[in-house]
Amino acid sequence: MLSVFISEEDIKKRVAELGKEISNDYKGEEIVVVVLLRGSFIFTADLVRVIESDVIVDFMVVSSYQGMETSGEVRIFKDLAENIHGRHVLIVEDIVDTGLTLTKILDVMNSRNPKSLRTCSLLSKPSRRIKEVDIKYVGFTIEDKFVVGYGLDLDQKYRQIPYIAEVTE
Ligand code: IMP
Repeated sequence: MLSVFISEEDIKKRVAELGKEISNDYKGEEIVVVVLLRGSFIFTADLVRVIESDVIVDFMVVSSYQGMETSGEVRIFKDLAENIHGRHVLIVEDIVDTGLTLTKILDVMNSRNPKSLRTCSLLSKPSRRIKEVDIKYVGFTIEDKFVVGYGLDLDQKYRQIPYIAEVTE
């Protein structure tokens, strides 16, 4: 069963706040916004529309770490089209859980020498962290619950639900 965990209205309000904060921080500088597929496609679509700086949107598909060794390398299924050397890069995630995926992506991105590298995640579950990772912009910090909707899935389903739902029995 699905029950509303974060409403559409609350998401919209928070996304607008994040957009304002990001716009202020980058002060008109161009940002390469990296959409981590598939989960962050809806969040990023809303977020970039409330960012006032110039935005170049690019996409990346990486393997998720579920059930994998912490020492493993992140597998890139689709890499960026943009060269990020010397540019401001903002990576957008749907949810940071153990932190393993984002840590690996940051290593890969850092090796390409961007001018700056920051992260934004709609959701964060700090109690599940295995790797501490700096998330500059966090939408909502939540407890250890499995959530779906607004881009997040359970076995590839429920991404289109317009709010964030908790999955219960
Ligand atoms: P991490 O490497 O453990 O931080 O993995 C983060 C990834 O796990 C996210 O990008 C999601 O794909 C997935 N994930 C973690 N928690 C949830 C959840 O509650 N709902 C849906 N996907 C989740």
